[in-house]
Amino acid sequence: MSPKFMDGKAFAKQLRSEIKKQVKDFSKPVGLGTILVGDDPGSIAYVEGKHRDCAEVGIKSIRINLPVTASTDEVIAAVGKLNTDPLCTGFIVQLPLPNSIDVQKVLASINPKKDADGLTPSNLGNLVLGFNTITPCTPLAIVALLEEYKVSLAGQKVLIIGRGRTVGRPLSILLSQKPYNATVILAHSATTNLAQQLQDADIVISAIGIAHFIKPEMIKKHAIVVDVGISRLNNQLVGDVDPRVIDVASLFAPMPGGIGPMTRVMLLRNLIKLAQNEK
Ligand SMILES: NC(=O)c1ccc[n+]([C@@H]2O[C@H](COP(=O)([O-])OP(=O)(O)OC[C@H]3O[C@@H](n4cnc5c(N)ncnc54)[C@H](OP(=O)(O)O)[C@@H]3O)[C@@H](O)[C@H]2O)c1
Repeated sequence: MSPKFMDGKAFAKQLRSEIKKQVKDFSKPVGLGTILVGDDPGSIAYVEGKHRDCAEVGIKSIRINLPVTASTDEVIAAVGKLNTDPLCTGFIVQLPLPNSIDVQKVLASINPKKDADGLTPSNLGNLVLGFNTITPCTPLAIVALLEEYKVSLAGQKVLIIGRGRTVGRPLSILLSQKPYNATVILAHSATTNLAQQLQDADIVISAIGIAHFIKPEMIKKHAIVVDVGISRLNNQLVGDVDPRVIDVASLFAPMPGGIGPMTRVMLLRNLIKLAQNEK
C-alpha cells in the first residue's frame, strides 16, 4: 500500500494477535453471542466474519439465527437468552433489523454488562457523559486507526458526514471530548452547506452509504479522509469516497481495507473489556 493509505487490515491483524494472548490469560472462556434476524447476504457475511475472528483468537461463538418474520418480542426473547447465558460474555444484535422490528426496544433490552456493541441507552448515555464505558466499535476503530497513523485530532476541524446511531452520532460525541479535543461538525441529509464544510475540514469522515459521494475536487488539499460507508456499485462493494481522493489527501482510509477490519477487531476488544469487568 502507498504510505498515504491507512492500512486497517494489517493493523487489525496485529491487534488480533495481541488479543489472542489476552484471551489465553482469562481463567474462564470468553464467548461472543450474535443474533441475526433474516437472511440478508451482507448481514450473514458480517456475522460470519465476526465468528471467524473469534475462532482465530480463541473466543467461543454462540449464534442465534431468527427468520425474517420474527417479531420484536421474539427478538427480545433471544436477547433475554443471551442476557442470562453464563457462556456468553457479551453479544451483538446484527443491524439493520428488518423494518417490522422495533430496534430501540430490542437495543434497550440488552443487559448493558453484555452489550458488546455499546449501543444500549445506558452505555451510549455513559459515552455522552464521558464515563468509562463500552463504546460502539466503528468510532473506536476510526480513533484507533488515526492514532496508529499519528494523526493528531486536537483542535482539528473534523467533518463527520452521517449521524447514524452506530457511526456518526457516537463518533461526534467521542471526538469532541477529551482527550481527542476535535472541533466536530456533524453533517446529515439536511445539511445545506456541505460543499463549504468539505473545503474547510482538516479531517473528513464519511458514513452515509452513497457510492463515491465524495470526489477529489470536493476536499481541501492534504486533508485526511476516512471512508466508512458501504454500498454496492456495479455489483461491487464500494465506499462513500471516490478512491481518486488519494491524489489530493495526505492520508486516506479506504473502503475496503480501512475501517471494516478495524471495526471487527474493536468488537473483540469490547468483549475483552466485558470479560475483565466480569471478574
Ligand atoms: N466499515 C464499517 O465497518 C462500517 C460499520 C458500520 C457502518 N458502516 C457503513 O456506514 C454507513 C453509515 O452507517 P449507519 O448505520 O450510520 O447508517 P444510517 O443510520 O443509515 O445513517 C446514514 C446517515 O447518512 C446521512 N445521509 C444520507 N444521505 C446523505 C447526504 N446526501 N448528505 C449527507 N448525509 C446523508 C443520513 O442523514 P439523515 O440522518 O438526515 O437521514 C444518516 O444520518 C453505511 O453505509 C454502513 O454500511 C460501515
